[in-house]
Amino acid sequence: MSHPALLPMPPDNILRAIHGRGGWESLEDNEAAFLYSILKDLPLFSTVVEIGCELGRSSVMIAMVAKDRHFNLHHCDFWVSGSHYAAEWIACMHDIGSPFTLHHMNSSSVDLPEGTVINLLYVDGDHEAAGISADCDHYLHMIPEGGYVAFHDYGRGSLPSVKPTVDNYMVETSWEPLGVSRTMAIWRRK
Ligand SMILES: C[S@@+](CC[C@H](N)C(=O)[O-])C[C@H]1O[C@@H](n2cnc3c(N)ncnc32)[C@H](O)[C@@H]1O
Repeated sequence: MSHPALLPMPPDNILRAIHGRGGWESLEDNEAAFLYSILKDLPLFSTVVEIGCELGRSSVMIAMVAKDRHFNLHHCDFWVSGSHYAAEWIACMHDIGSPFTLHHMNSSSVDLPEGTVINLLYVDGDHEAAGISADCDHYLHMIPEGGYVAFHDYGRGSLPSVKPTVDNYMVETSWEPLGVSRTMAIWRRK
């Protein structure tokens, strides 16, 4: 894989959809490009789990790729910023038209079906150490060899708990680091 900072941008229609969701700080273009480089090559019918949807910048990209690749999508958020965001997010995702399951609850309470295998886990929910640890404890064991985990806000100065907490999990030898673009960090299970 090229260095994450040198990856091509997602297609224009996807970039436009991301920009249309406002809040550029939640997913910058170089970060979207890194996540897109993984998404576009996931096998057909992959299971993708997103923790933290809010405005839907990452969600729309995931859903647009999923439409062609027939992914099984699980999105989770309890929308701390207000239920109006939830309503907007749901409307936008229905417009894209890729089927999804929304878990409107705390991410560590999500009960995925027995035997679920996660091909890509995207973590952008609770950015405190306890919340990230709870997500890692709850989901990482469902990622098989060749599966991916992506953490947003890794190394962001205003969210200092993310990097050390993630590093604590990714230090395990079963994880291969694929790099960091801005604050998007991705690992693959060896
Ligand atoms: C930074 S925003 C996500 C931004 C989104 N990925 C995007 O690209 O637009 C974080 C979201 O995580 C949600 N959140 C925080 N802690 C959570 C938890 N424990 N379970 C579920 N959602 C959580 C918040 O409600 C918020 O909407």
